[in-house]
Amino acid sequence: MEGALTARDRVGVQDFVLLEEYKSENAFIFNLKKRFKEKLIYTYIGSVLVSVNPYQQLSFYTQYHMEKYQGVNFYEMPPHVYAIADNVYRSMRNESRDQCILISGESGAGKTEASKYILQYLSVCSTSNEQVGHIKSQLLQSNPVLEAFGNAKTHRNDNSSRFGKYMDIQFDYKGAPVGGHILNYLLEKSRVVHQASGERNFHIFYQLMEGSDEKMLRKLCLEKTPDTYFYTNQGKCAKVRSINDRKDFIAVQKALKVLEFSEQQIDNLFEIVASVLHLGNVNFSANDEGNAVVQNDHVVQKVSILLGCDLDQLLQALTHRTIEANKEKMQSPLAVDQAVYARDALAKAVYGRMFNWLVESLNGSLTNKDVKRRSLIGLLDIYGFEIFKSNSFEQFCINFCNEKLQQLFIQLTLKQEQEEYRSEGIEWEPVEYFNNKVICDLVEERHKGIIDILDEECLRPGDASDKTFLKKLEETVGEHKHFVTHALGDAKMRKTIGYEEFRLIHYAGEVTYSIEGFLDKNNDLLFRDLKETMSKATNEIIKSVFPTSELARLKRPETVGSQFRTSLNKLMDILMSKEPSYVRCIKPNDAKMSDRFDDNLVRHQVKYLGLMENLRVRRAGFAYRRTYDVFLKRYKSLCPKTWPRWDGPAKEGVALLCKHIDYADGDYRLGKTKIFIRFPKTLFATEDAFQIRKHELATQIQASFRGWSQWRKFQRMRDAVTLLSAHWRRVLACRLREKRKKAVHDVRKFILGFITRNRPRCPENAHFLDYVRISYLQRCQSGLPRNVLDKSWPKAPAALEEAADLLQHLYMRNMTLKYVKTITPQRKAAMEEKVLASAIFRSKKRGYEESVAQPFQDKRQVDQLKPKMQTSMDPGDKPIYCCTVTKYDRHGYHARQRTLVVGSSATYLFDSKDGKLKQKILHSELRGISTSSLGDHVFVLHAPSEQKQKGDAIVQSTFAIETMTKLANIAKKSKDVKVVENGSILHDMAGGKQGTIEFHAGTQPSVTKSKQGSLVVIAPGR
Ligand SMILES: Nc1ncnc2c1ncn2[C@@H]1O[C@H](COP(=O)(O)OP(=O)(O)O)[C@@H](O)[C@H]1O
Ligand SMILES: [Mg+2]
Repeated sequence: MEGALTARDRVGVQDFVLLEEYKSENAFIFNLKKRFKEKLIYTYIGSVLVSVNPYQQLSFYTQYHMEKYQGVNFYEMPPHVYAIADNVYRSMRNESRDQCILISGESGAGKTEASKYILQYLSVCSTSNEQVGHIKSQLLQSNPVLEAFGNAKTHRNDNSSRFGKYMDIQFDYKGAPVGGHILNYLLEKSRVVHQASGERNFHIFYQLMEGSDEKMLRKLCLEKTPDTYFYTNQGKCAKVRSINDRKDFIAVQKALKVLEFSEQQIDNLFEIVASVLHLGNVNFSANDEGNAVVQNDHVVQKVSILLGCDLDQLLQALTHRTIEANKEKMQSPLAVDQAVYARDALAKAVYGRMFNWLVESLNGSLTNKDVKRRSLIGLLDIYGFEIFKSNSFEQFCINFCNEKLQQLFIQLTLKQEQEEYRSEGIEWEPVEYFNNKVICDLVEERHKGIIDILDEECLRPGDASDKTFLKKLEETVGEHKHFVTHALGDAKMRKTIGYEEFRLIHYAGEVTYSIEGFLDKNNDLLFRDLKETMSKATNEIIKSVFPTSELARLKRPETVGSQFRTSLNKLMDILMSKEPSYVRCIKPNDAKMSDRFDDNLVRHQVKYLGLMENLRVRRAGFAYRRTYDVFLKRYKSLCPKTWPRWDGPAKEGVALLCKHIDYADGDYRLGKTKIFIRFPKTLFATEDAFQIRKHELATQIQASFRGWSQWRKFQRMRDAVTLLSAHWRRVLACRLREKRKKAVHDVRKFILGFITRNRPRCPENAHFLDYVRISYLQRCQSGLPRNVLDKSWPKAPAALEEAADLLQHLYMRNMTLKYVKTITPQRKAAMEEKVLASAIFRSKKRGYEESVAQPFQDKRQVDQLKPKMQTSMDPGDKPIYCCTVTKYDRHGYHARQRTLVVGSSATYLFDSKDGKLKQKILHSELRGISTSSLGDHVFVLHAPSEQKQKGDAIVQSTFAIETMTKLANIAKKSKDVKVVENGSILHDMAGGKQGTIEFHAGTQPSVTKSKQGSLVVIAPGR
């Protein structure tokens, strides 16, 4: 442990196995002493813990220390009772084997303390969960209750256990405590009625007086002073410095609550304790006939009230006895000493049975309600070997019990161990040790042992007494080496043994027993009258522990000695069935002092506890052994040849394993069925390796599991996908089938519709007709003409021809309207001119078709009218159209360049060069316009005849169609335009003469004057 403790642990050796002079008792004791002086009270002999009572509170029992010892290898930490507890706990968990911890040592050596530390460790450090919290506290709380009722101050120990206790703690498979069970052994009942000087009765009596409040004291009719009561004043030491009765009483009350005792039960318990105290104060005196009478009835009354029994009946039962003679029942009065005996017997019986009830009730609370328990850890804390000044039947039983435990220890550690080496064929040098079996036999052997001799005396008719018992002993076992009496001893011995005593040479020392009371105590007789009174009590506990059925039983109850022997043998069987661990407690001095180490006292204990032999066996032997299969099962993962499975014999597997993990030759042996490992460190190294390997394996297992679970998941997904796709394909197939079905239906309907299409609308063709319509309309949608000139139209089926016509008409109108809306006034005018041109020239004059595509213009070949031309025009007249033309004059048809200007009221011909006005024709006077049907460009403006000097104007314009149309339009003379078909035009000339223009079709266009004086125009014909 940290700091000081670790450092101090280097004092001496912490394991006697490491002691150089391991055969020397002195060296052994010196090591113990050295460590004790440094407050190092724990030392190992291998896995056995030797503990020396420090008689002072030490600091290494804290939560912190408990945690430090958890799951740590035994030898890695300084020796501690926690290490034993942890080792036991882990063995239980790892190997699922029941364990037990045997704590031995003489009275006051620290057994009970050690057991408490172990219990505390197990409850703190075991697995916890929600449910076990309660059971843990119940386990812990059972201690203060049992100690209050079963412990007392003796010369040896202020808190001496006056009963034996074997407690087992049950664990579930996770290592969480789930329940417990207590077996109790022979309570020292005589203490209830008698205490030696300097000793006390059971703690609870003092606690009740010291700890109760006024109300409770009144209820129990108790005084606060133990001196008042005979049963608590004999030892004359009610107050003890190391004991705080008041505080302890509070703890007991709290514990009883945790252990689920009801208020009623707790009241009943304390009523019984109080009634026992009162019972002790019942006095008797002899009446005239020498018979006992109760002196103080009021005390008996208190008892009767507290136990709820009939006062008169109780008084009668305390002083009389019913005897049966000749099948007649008779009341026989008791003498005073008999009455006192009866009273004490009652007190002992009441207290003893109450104690048993208490243990049973505790067991009721601790019972594991769930049956899932897996393994258990037993904890044996039993009274230690005792030698008092005066030793009686109780010490005889207690010491016999310790003999048995020593026997068990020998069996398991020395004898069995050596026998095991032999049977396993391991080389071995035998170790000598004292086997105390002879002493056990002396006490318990059938018919020949002390217990049976005592029983015989108890049952024998006639006047058997303690003395006759001693005589019988001398006769029967007088020869035994371990038995001595005054009569049998030599002179020296006689001085130390009284006449009414016998001495047993126990393994732990010689004890001289006074035979007084042996028979009575063994009989443990309680008169029937008292039992009957008790069975009628209203105190529930008393009623239940004195059942009426007991009264009917005729068989003699088993004697105390036999009962004890039977229960001890059962205990041995229990312990033998478990894997034991040992704590050997040693008392350093008799004075309960913290700083005294009495060498001789310790030497004595070391000797009788067999620690030296224990050490020698350890040194020579092997610390650890396991059957091959168990060892292999645990560690096989450390060797590739044995992992994961070894099919051969386990021994060979273990041999391979040991080779693989490199055990040194001397470190282990292979027996017939087991492997033996010499040093714990070898095993711990293996265990450590296993722990590491376990993690690796866990990781591997985890990985495999994950892989497997993923694979499962994948498989499930794949199956799901297959299923889904199968379903989906089915759905698709269904849909396709539906679609095809519909298609077939539609096709049939279509064909039927087609066949019947010409009939009037009927169900057969309605759909087809609708279809035709819709499809025609859809066709129309994309196939309609895009401009007004496009006269195409989608061909309509027969049924729709009329509608198509209407539609086309509407459509065209609509398109025209739209078109018209986009036309400007200028363009409209231009169009109108074109229309006019068409009206005049279409199909009449060659050259018209070519002119259609050419837009008319307002100015042709004239950039700007000369100012002179403008001023020569009539006032208010504006030029609307002008172009350059050739004019053939009347004098020989000479061609002259002229600019023709059409104004709003007249047409002017100007000299193109000087701009001089040559001719003006008022529109109102224009008679008409003539042109030929040929492709020439000549036309005649027929002027009025009053204009003598001028006459008609013969003009040639490159854009004759345009010029004539414009002119006709502006002058509003369109009706007066003549296209001459017959090939000649007559025109007026000045002076009333007429000229002729002849037109001829020809390929070489020309305008010439013929010999006859007419103008001949040749142009392409139509
Ligand atoms: N480990 C310990 N630490 C401190 N005191 C101890 C220890 N062990 C024993 N004692 C003291 O010795 C007394 C007797 O111990 P106990 O366990 O009752 O002895 P046993 O049960 O062997 O008769 C205790 O009351 C306590 O005062
Ligand atoms: Mg004890």
